[in-house]
Amino acid sequence: MAIDWSGLKAAATEAARTAYAPYSQLRVGAAGLTSSGDVVVGCNVENVSYGLTLCAECGLVSALHGAGFRRAGHAVPGAPPSLVAVAVVAGDGQPLLPCGRCRQLLLEAGGPHLLVDTDQGPVELQVLLPAAFTSTDLAERREPGA
Ligand code: THU
Repeated sequence: MAIDWSGLKAAATEAARTAYAPYSQLRVGAAGLTSSGDVVVGCNVENVSYGLTLCAECGLVSALHGAGFRRAGHAVPGAPPSLVAVAVVAGDGQPLLPCGRCRQLLLEAGGPHLLVDTDQGPVELQVLLPAAFTSTDLAERREPGA
């Protein structure tokens, strides 16, 4: 699937305009292309209790699941939609690297080959989040009944 990076960045920049960031004054917008060709977006939403802040990628992942629901008309257990490409920008429209927590969120939503835009162009998420904690680690290390 050809990726329209300028369209994705434009959608992220538009989403950044809807951010609620009175505390940091850093507006962030995120836009993602799904495997079904939909574009989903999110913006950061801050809170007076600072630790409750939602990053733009959180809104994006939530919208991703909503997009799957809208497309199928119902929830699809075990078959969540997936991300193919993501652009995250600040209010100036330039790329902003996802924070560590959001890299982990994006991994679950798009896998290690998810393309993430950077100042140097798109890179695979596995470059930004090497040696990630995955469901394999969970399955191999959990202690049922503990
Ligand atoms: N922020 C994001 O929305 N995404 C990131 O990946 C990095 C940080 C937001 C959170 C907060 O509202 C502001 O940027 C400053 O940290």
